[in-house]
Amino acid sequence: MNQVLTDLAKQIKNPLTGVSLSDEGRLMDLNETDLVIEITYKRDGITPETKREIETSFKNLITEQYTKDKKILVKTISENSSDATGHHEENISKEKTEPAQVKAGHATPAPKRQIENVKNIIAVSSCKGGVGKSTLAVNLALSLLENGKKVGVIDADVYGPSLPMLLGARGKKPSANGENKILPLEAYGLKFLSFGCFISEDDPVIWRGPMLGGILNQFLFDADWGELDYLIIDLPPGTGDMQLSMIQATEVQGTVIVSTPQAVALQDTKKGINMFQKVNVPILGMVENMSYFIPEDQPDKRYYIFGKEGVQAACETMDIDFLGEIPLLTEIRSGGDEGQPFMSLTVNRGTRTWDSFIAMARAIDNKLNVKDSRKSKGFLGRMFT
Ligand SMILES: Nc1ncnc2c1ncn2[C@@H]1O[C@H](COP(=O)(O)OP(=O)(O)OP(=O)(O)O)[C@@H](O)[C@H]1O
Ligand SMILES: [Mg+2]
Repeated sequence: MNQVLTDLAKQIKNPLTGVSLSDEGRLMDLNETDLVIEITYKRDGITPETKREIETSFKNLITEQYTKDKKILVKTISENSSDATGHHEENISKEKTEPAQVKAGHATPAPKRQIENVKNIIAVSSCKGGVGKSTLAVNLALSLLENGKKVGVIDADVYGPSLPMLLGARGKKPSANGENKILPLEAYGLKFLSFGCFISEDDPVIWRGPMLGGILNQFLFDADWGELDYLIIDLPPGTGDMQLSMIQATEVQGTVIVSTPQAVALQDTKKGINMFQKVNVPILGMVENMSYFIPEDQPDKRYYIFGKEGVQAACETMDIDFLGEIPLLTEIRSGGDEGQPFMSLTVNRGTRTWDSFIAMARAIDNKLNVKDSRKSKGFLGRMFT
């Protein structure tokens, strides 16, 4: 166990006595995984209000002095079950004679929900920032559309939402329908929602972990997506709260991992892959972005700025499908900046990169076996078990 974390846990006080939970002999267990920090203490005699105070002080301590990237669960056990009235976390009552059952449970999150009429949810992710997730998510969505699918996109990056800009919809606000459901915006035939549609671009965005999941849940379940073959979730970088919220909220049919060929990007990417594998989200494959650059005046030349074929090699080592490479292209960058994505411009049709995007979409489509919009989810789910 990490000493820093242990020392922090020992600092939490019982507000009723001013003595630390540790000194009162209440600290029962402390666990840390890649995604979660979980503390369990004995709460006998502690009122629900005090319990909330303890929970808040532990969460604040961890996020301020240890990590902001993990889900924090505060659990209690009680020898007197009448004390156990908490609602956020699991309470474990036990017989007086038993030793504390420290492995007695993981918090049980709400059951996963499905979105009616949405057949596949795909996450686009990477651990590293700026590798082109959002650019890829949008162009992949347009490629699926080009292949005849109905597609929606959720921008799950609340700190740096980019979809309104990428899709040329800055300043547009979604409205609500008669049932008070959010009506996603539409651009180039894609439906989409972004936190960026609900704030002004200059607003500082200071959101706390729990709210992130709340927003994603609203985008998933309180929006009228209609019938979709694919709902693509453009994730923020990393393996933080949003990734966890997504996995807990709904069944994700697979994730597409984006990386540049650079060793440092790949190293981070492997962490992301491990996380998804641990929580049984299938890895649909990896895309190498910014693979090479072709100067306009030397069309036969390729510069491998970030290294060569690093993602292909990583895919082989990790036994993951390689979905294709996308070069560093001025048209991709300017398409994003101008709100006219590369795959929305017919002038790009027939280029090598256009074909790569289409092939990628087809590969994903074939993997998920969506032959028509009547395919049932049960079958898709079984493909990966
Ligand atoms: N293949 C490419 N060719 C040229 N520019 C690209 C390419 N892919 C992405 N970019 C540019 O790189 C920058 C980062 O891309 P993008 O915002 O899609 O990355 P991201 O991984 O979503 O970033 P974040 O981690 O901040 O969410 C953008 O300016 C985008 O236009
Ligand atoms: Mg992004």
